[in-house]
Amino acid sequence: MRNRRVLLASRPSGWVSEANFRIDETPLPQPAQGEVLVKNLWLSLDPYMRGRMSDAKSYVKGVELGEVMVGQTVGEVVSSRNEKFKEGDKVLTQLGWQLFGTTTEATRVDEKRAPLSCYLGVMGMPGMTAYFGLKDIGQPKRGETVVVSAASGAVGSVVGQLAKIWGCRAVGIAGGGQKCAYVTRELGFDACLDYKAANLKEALRQACPSGVDVYFDNVGGQIFDTLLTQMNLHARVVVCGLISDYNATEPYAIRNWRAVLVNRIRLQGMIVFDWKERYGEATKALGGYFGEGKLKYRESVIEGLDNAPRGLIALLKGENFGKQLVKLA
Ligand SMILES: NC(=O)c1ccc[n+]([C@@H]2O[C@H](COP(=O)([O-])OP(=O)(O)OC[C@H]3O[C@@H](n4cnc5c(N)ncnc54)[C@H](OP(=O)(O)O)[C@@H]3O)[C@@H](O)[C@H]2O)c1
Repeated sequence: MRNRRVLLASRPSGWVSEANFRIDETPLPQPAQGEVLVKNLWLSLDPYMRGRMSDAKSYVKGVELGEVMVGQTVGEVVSSRNEKFKEGDKVLTQLGWQLFGTTTEATRVDEKRAPLSCYLGVMGMPGMTAYFGLKDIGQPKRGETVVVSAASGAVGSVVGQLAKIWGCRAVGIAGGGQKCAYVTRELGFDACLDYKAANLKEALRQACPSGVDVYFDNVGGQIFDTLLTQMNLHARVVVCGLISDYNATEPYAIRNWRAVLVNRIRLQGMIVFDWKERYGEATKALGGYFGEGKLKYRESVIEGLDNAPRGLIALLKGENFGKQLVKLA
């Protein structure tokens, strides 16, 4: 049996293309003392991967050329030289875009609590990002209005559902009527605005008659700029992601900074790793809501490791509808 891997072949300038990746095969790795050999079953595709393809300074170092692309996976332990794990255990790891890998760092996941793929989405990193970003930075109070962009996606869908659970009015922003209908009908948001069709400023005025108290920003750019004009006094902005800028060669220049000053808006950037010590708290809370049927989710699944580059490109273009995953086995 051999391992199959997707490597970073070149750094994109502007949009990612399939030519930025290369696929190779190597002998199956053997676990050293303390390690487990894992067969990956699911690979998560995430917008941050665009940043890792670059060598620009960021919060984490980029992938080197010729290295396996980074990514979280859920897989099955096929052999173990670590007393904490046995064959057949299902684990969450950072093994990246490959079919097999060895590691000392694995977290056991419980298939009875949630389907395995959920540990990469609603019960995993995106869910925790929504939980800590909204709770700690957004600090929503009952009755307040929370707006979130990329509302049908992995992070945004959880943000809006938590806002509802915590007693707020939840308004989503998403691309297209189909996504907006899902956000209101299935996820239970109070409203969802199609930024591709509507005059967003006018639509926000109608959907948020009392203004916006918390904006959870997943996209940056023009949507963020427009939101600034609708924020209330002492509103909070969670700067979680800037996907509209990830493939831009020039960053979007914000025009409405004045709103930050006059409304004393508090903006804070977040990286979910900063809450590492409190992951247990999020897992417990999200697991509880999930178990009670209060957290719905949707997945965009593509089959096969070789299709992962295509999946990432689709995600960055907004073609995914729900958490983007690659089914490996
Ligand atoms: N800070 C952190 O720790 C952290 C952790 C996880 C994720 N994030 C960030 O959170 C955001 C969402 O991530 P996710 O994993 O949940 O992805 P996602 O929402 O499941 O998928 C990305 C979505 O972004 C939207 N999008 C793409 N291009 C856009 C554009 N030019 N303008 C507006 N919207 C666009 C698309 O939705 P529409 O069709 O609705 O436009 C697309 O479906 C990303 O910016 C990501 O980098 C940050």
